[in-house]
Amino acid sequence: MKKSYQFIIFLVMLGPALQVFISCNESAKGALVEAKASVANTNTIVSIDTTKIPDDKYGDEVRYGRELMLHTAYYIGPNGINGKYLGNKMNCSNCQQDAGAKPYSLNLAMSFRNYPGYRAREGRVLSLAERINNCIMHPHLGKPLPLDSKEMVSIMCYLKWLNDSSRVDNSTKGIKNLELTFPDVAASPERGNVLFAANCARCHGLDGEGKMQPNGVTYIYPPLWGPKAYQPGSSMHRIVKLAQWLMANMPYDKATYNKPVLTSADALDLAAFINDDKIHKRPFVKEYQYPNYKEKAIDYDRGPFNDTFSDAQHKYGPYKPIIDYWESKGMKPTF
Ligand code: HEC
Repeated sequence: MKKSYQFIIFLVMLGPALQVFISCNESAKGALVEAKASVANTNTIVSIDTTKIPDDKYGDEVRYGRELMLHTAYYIGPNGINGKYLGNKMNCSNCQQDAGAKPYSLNLAMSFRNYPGYRAREGRVLSLAERINNCIMHPHLGKPLPLDSKEMVSIMCYLKWLNDSSRVDNSTKGIKNLELTFPDVAASPERGNVLFAANCARCHGLDGEGKMQPNGVTYIYPPLWGPKAYQPGSSMHRIVKLAQWLMANMPYDKATYNKPVLTSADALDLAAFINDDKIHKRPFVKEYQYPNYKEKAIDYDRGPFNDTFSDAQHKYGPYKPIIDYWESKGMKPTF
């Protein structure tokens, strides 16, 4: 009874876009099943079973938290039914796929354990709630959720459940993104443009504008740049970080982390194309972060840095000389 009621809500929510969306979700599930199968009985990859969310009050919050991450714009988007917090119509799950449960997709299974924690970007210790609000304010261009709101509490309950139920630590496979093999040359936006037209435009549009659901609530295919996409300074705006994510996750219907479609060089070229601010406009951003520049990620898009490499080399590479230099000085490069 409860299930069929949920399904009707689902139908109403998604309307005519349902079929396409289901097929997207199915392929995401397919990837997860495949990932589980390939490492059967080893418990070395992040995996969860949502049927084990408890059937009690805490479980209700966990389920709503997961729902919020999957259908963020529907609940708290610009026309959200439970509050208007986001400035765009993207969902958390567009990047943290399967609500942060998918391996190698900016996975969130460790968040509950890693926060409160120090973050170089802010140069201070953040609570988990502050970290969540960072995403609401930056990639989502929104205003922060009140700390005692049902939405904030539910997202935190979901992240706690994700951590409890997946038995992970920071070395579990799939917590971090895939590692790239760095080429000796800088990433090329021109080559990325060609790869984009061949591999990505069929869903995201030739101009990266994405495709909105007919009911206007959220996207079938989210935008990659333009005023409604993530803003500069978001993690996805860093070329190495985006390339690692792309290798494991895109094209959506073809790539899995253990069978990527893109090579490291392809992914870097594509990321350079997507994140080239001279070619692609993004929402205006007031502040650039990392108060202590010595802690800045090496692929951040503007200096100063704790070395003498140019800002362009930091943004586009080649990255190996930068990494080698940092390691030779006993410093730990982050990217
Ligand atoms: C079959 C359709 C499809 C193809 C092809 C595809 N994507 Fe996606 N992409 C998606 C969907 C759907 C999502 C959202 C995933 C989710 O919500 O779980 C997404 C999400 C993304 C995101 C993160 C969200 C955002 O909008 O910033 C990026 C970046 C991205 N895709 C880049 C690419 C690139 C680059 C390619 C080509 C190599 C590509 N995609 C090919 C369907 C596709």
